[in-house]
Amino acid sequence: MSIIIMHDCIKNKNIVLGVCGGIAAYKSVELLRLLKKYGANVRVIMTQSAREFVGQLTFEALSGQPVCTSIFEENDYVSIRHIDWAREADAVVIAPATANITGKLANGIADDMLSTFMLAVKSPVIFCPSMNANMYESKAVQRNLETLRADGYFIMEPGTGKLACGTAGPGRLPEPADIFDRILSSLMPKDLKGKRVLVTAGPTMELIDPVRFISNPSSGKMGYSIARAAEHRGGKVVLITGPVNLSDPLNVNMIYVRTAKEMASAVFKHMKRSDIIIKAAAVSDYRPVRSSKQKIKKKKDEIVLALQKNQDILKELGRKKGNRILAGFAAETENLEKNARKKLAEKNLDIIAGNIVGSPSSGFGTDTNKVTLFYRDGSKESLPKMEKDALAHILLDRIVEGMVSHLD
Ligand code: PMT
Repeated sequence: MSIIIMHDCIKNKNIVLGVCGGIAAYKSVELLRLLKKYGANVRVIMTQSAREFVGQLTFEALSGQPVCTSIFEENDYVSIRHIDWAREADAVVIAPATANITGKLANGIADDMLSTFMLAVKSPVIFCPSMNANMYESKAVQRNLETLRADGYFIMEPGTGKLACGTAGPGRLPEPADIFDRILSSLMPKDLKGKRVLVTAGPTMELIDPVRFISNPSSGKMGYSIARAAEHRGGKVVLITGPVNLSDPLNVNMIYVRTAKEMASAVFKHMKRSDIIIKAAAVSDYRPVRSSKQKIKKKKDEIVLALQKNQDILKELGRKKGNRILAGFAAETENLEKNARKKLAEKNLDIIAGNIVGSPSSGFGTDTNKVTLFYRDGSKESLPKMEKDALAHILLDRIVEGMVSHLD
């Protein structure tokens, strides 16, 4: 069984970072730092104007390699650097990409190291335009970006807001973490291409009155990791999430809900258009029978809160399963195997990930999780403690393997 660990896919990969002359060039230093942190081998090419904004030495020190700035450099007689680097690159990222490089690449002009190198590149290219909003919106730049898109470049939308030149609008370089995310995505196998994946995440919130509610400590991390991983692997992902404090995964259709009822109606609305459903949300099993419209006053020493059962969304999905792959989680504090197997059977699932909650490194709120996967055929797989990002990929590996063997 193959195991893809999310950040491992970037380890020892050759990434070429092209830096052009824009005020956002300083952000590419942070991007380089992130790439190095996860073990990438980063080679940097700077245009002449990029060197006006950030020192070449900074990139050299952080990448641990000489920065390339010109086609005519000493020692290049031993190799043709722009051809070698292009051949060896697993991915190329240009950040920031100016109007100038956009125009050159859209028209096949090769008059400096970066543009010459780019003509020889065969690997995925992540192109991150950053410039004044009027320049970005100009017909020429838009036309050139369209050409690059048609040539297979992945063009990252610039952020919108106040720009260094004092104007406001689109043109900001995306955050380094988002660019890093797109580089990761470009390195992933696209084994979920064409698959529609529905994921749920986070807690639900059942209101007692306008200022009090029943909920649980789910942070949404597990479900968000699954949604991000599925998108990286080419899936068309819908993420239905309870209230959490996490950034939205890129390129995922987000649906925000609060209560179990809202989650149920969102899930049932999207289930028909899903090939794979993974329910990582911690849905409240009960809600107050009555939710007071006004804040309940503190009068009595004791009050009794009557609760009624929420619909079991996953069980209902199990009833309507059809050919879909259905995966759930079982959050347990004891008897993991017995309880997880019971839920697997009762909810008609293909896989259930059983996790013991309440431990400092597993379950709610943590970055890591330790689960045992229980399968429909009765087998099980105990996984070691690992990052939720990594676990998300293993779960998807198993789903993909299951789908393939199902077709055999
Ligand atoms: O969000 P994190 O902080 O990262 O924490 C991750 C997690 C602990 C929440 C996650 O790993 C997890 O275990 N999620 C499932 C939590 C849960 O509700 O478990 P359960 O055993 O009560 O429910 C079993 C399954 O039925 C779950 O897939 C759940 O989504 C589903 N369910 C439960 C009740 C209900 N009314 N409707 C449901 O669909």
